[in-house]
Amino acid sequence: MADTYLVTGGMGCIGAWALYHLRRNGKRAVNFDQSRDRHRIDWLMSAEEQANISFVQGDLRDTDAVKAVFSQYGVTHVIHLAALQVPMCRANPVLGAEVNVTGTVNVFEAAREQGITHVAYASSIGVYGPPSDFPPGLIAHDAPKRPRTLYGAYKVCNEGTALVYYEEQGISSTCLRPYTVYGVGRNQGMTSEPTKALVAAAKGQPYHIPFSGTMQFQWAADVARQFILAAEQPLGGAFGFNLGGNPATVADFVQIASDVLPGTRIDVADNPLPFPAGFDDSALRTKFDMVFETPLDEGIAGTVAHIQRLGERIT
Ligand SMILES: NC(=O)c1ccc[n+]([C@@H]2O[C@H](COP(=O)([O-])OP(=O)(O)OC[C@H]3O[C@@H](n4cnc5c(N)ncnc54)[C@H](O)[C@@H]3O)[C@@H](O)[C@H]2O)c1
Repeated sequence: MADTYLVTGGMGCIGAWALYHLRRNGKRAVNFDQSRDRHRIDWLMSAEEQANISFVQGDLRDTDAVKAVFSQYGVTHVIHLAALQVPMCRANPVLGAEVNVTGTVNVFEAAREQGITHVAYASSIGVYGPPSDFPPGLIAHDAPKRPRTLYGAYKVCNEGTALVYYEEQGISSTCLRPYTVYGVGRNQGMTSEPTKALVAAAKGQPYHIPFSGTMQFQWAADVARQFILAAEQPLGGAFGFNLGGNPATVADFVQIASDVLPGTRIDVADNPLPFPAGFDDSALRTKFDMVFETPLDEGIAGTVAHIQRLGERIT
């Protein structure tokens, strides 16, 4: 049976990039998303390129619908990304739990029924608490997880779910915990502001980023490729890895944007996000031969060029 990759949340930013790279690598891909809005995918692929991808509209909360996509398409690899982000979980905690927690259980249940023995899924650095929880420096791989958002709490729950599915059902899993993902398509969620600033700047418009601070910026194309690798290389356990990269400030990000686009008018509020500056990714490097990490200046320049190519098509 040909390998078939299921991407949940492929209409979203990381998912669209995952579909892009799967198609580029000649893989069969199925997208399961409740949204029919292809705008992010349209920014990455032509209609002809999208024709090889199967699009299934469905709600992750619907156990039968999730199981049906696994069986109907003969799914062999799973990249589970669909989720509601921080602001949406805050605005509607019950819905957030249904999508992010129950939805993840549905994915593991469907994998179990289908006889799939490995799942890759998205967690987040939101599983960790504020900087005051930790000593200075990069946060260790096994640091305690005491989130202060419901979104983070739901992600911690999912990591626990994955551990139980490994121990009771033998389904291994790898979750990746991105920090601030940027790139074409990153237009929703708390940390989408730096990308929105790039879109505004490329159009000659001013932009105000409402937070500052030091963080790790990760290019969506890199993150997507790491998820594909995580789906392809089971590690014999339920693993979770922080994504890393050199910590940089929001001001550094804006400076690089100004170097690429002289005259850029982006200002940054003096309002650090309540997250640590950076996370140690050495565990990821130990387990995977390949860590995708485009330098920040190249990622920003590539994103700006992509935005410019899209012109009026990108909002
Ligand atoms: N973008 C980041 O900086 C970042 C950082 C840390 C973790 N993550 C995690 O990575 C994953 C992907 O992030 P993203 O930025 O691509 O997200 P996104 O918000 O761009 O996309 C999420 C997708 O999930 C879909 N979805 C939401 N509810 C659904 C439901 N009930 N049924 C089916 N589909 C549903 C949405 O329609 C959307 O297409 C998420 O799990 C997110 O929590 C992202």
